[in-house]
Amino acid sequence: MIWEEVLTKFKELFGEEGEIGVYFAPGRVNMIGEHTDYNGGHVFPCALTIGTYGAARKRSDKKLRFYSMNFEALGVIESSVEGLKAEKEADWTNYPKGVIWAFGEKGMPVDCGMDLVLFGNIPNGSGLSSSASVEVLTGFILRDLFGFDVTNQDLALIGQYSENQFNGVNCGIMDQFAIAMGKAGHAIFLDTATLNYEYAPIRLEHAKIVISCSNKKRGLGDSKYNERRSECEQAFEQISETAGINALGDLTEEQFEQCKNSVKDEVCRRRAKHAVYENQRTIQAVEALKRNDVALFGKLMNESHVSLRDDYEVTGIELDTLVEEAWKVEGVIGSRMTGAGFGGCTVSIVKDEAVDAFIAKVGAAYREKIGYDADFYVVEIGDGPVKIA
Ligand code: GLA
Repeated sequence: MIWEEVLTKFKELFGEEGEIGVYFAPGRVNMIGEHTDYNGGHVFPCALTIGTYGAARKRSDKKLRFYSMNFEALGVIESSVEGLKAEKEADWTNYPKGVIWAFGEKGMPVDCGMDLVLFGNIPNGSGLSSSASVEVLTGFILRDLFGFDVTNQDLALIGQYSENQFNGVNCGIMDQFAIAMGKAGHAIFLDTATLNYEYAPIRLEHAKIVISCSNKKRGLGDSKYNERRSECEQAFEQISETAGINALGDLTEEQFEQCKNSVKDEVCRRRAKHAVYENQRTIQAVEALKRNDVALFGKLMNESHVSLRDDYEVTGIELDTLVEEAWKVEGVIGSRMTGAGFGGCTVSIVKDEAVDAFIAKVGAAYREKIGYDADFYVVEIGDGPVKIA
């Protein structure tokens, strides 16, 4: 068992004494509703059974000692609960440090340190939210060790706050929410304007969710992400001068077509178009799923990709190749990029009998065109964070 290996590593590095807790938080995949969460729209993500494992113990001094089995060469990275700030040398530990800082900002000071060992089986930089998984896991551990009175939804908000304010990535709420609130077999239909949500069962009879990982690291992703966000803000400001809306997510397609010319810049207008249409597609997709119309759900996934490719421009040759090759395979119900884009993964719904052919055909075409391999994962929808031992 993975968690036992994490516990063994913890004892080897930090000793056996005292009370050591072992925890897990999932990664997530978004089925549809991309780049809508910071536009007051809907998203439809689910938690996965892959994620981040952590072993942790409270200390009596102020020290933080963190170790990741995914980055063994970095060794134990030390810091302190006092004077927390993001530092380049702190590498991945800026995520747990950010969450500790965020608890303090929210009136729940973490007054002593801890030792922590992590291991994640989410492919790194894949767009399956390994960082949000670490954030929610850290919050979950702090709640357990320090007895803070916070709900799982609070853990999502604290995680997002830490990412925005401590780590400087202006992400929306989707990833942390999907992870903190995950439920096996279900996706979460979340209205990001109100945080109202509903669990929708994913009943894919005779089909699987397949994630194709481009192995292209996100690289410039974070700065491009912030750029898309400000393009949408600019469009929103110009539209809201005439239309009384709180966010782009308030508009239907028809309303957008009527007021779109108030957005002066052509690029910003296309970004806003994506935000509006993608939100409406997400609402329709969830309705289709409730009627068991998986074919329509798949068609909307395909349309989502086209919009992300042409209007939002966050795909790139790697993700486009994976998706366009997937569309050619018989038995593929729908396929699109998932997450922020600019590299990372695609998500496809593939009939059971077509999964092997899918992996073989898409894999070969990807290698031929891109020059290196993609990785494929047939995934299951899992629960939110848990304490294992
Ligand atoms: C990243 C962000 C999310 C969301 C997606 C795009 O995963 O963290 O908040 O904006 O990109 O849908």
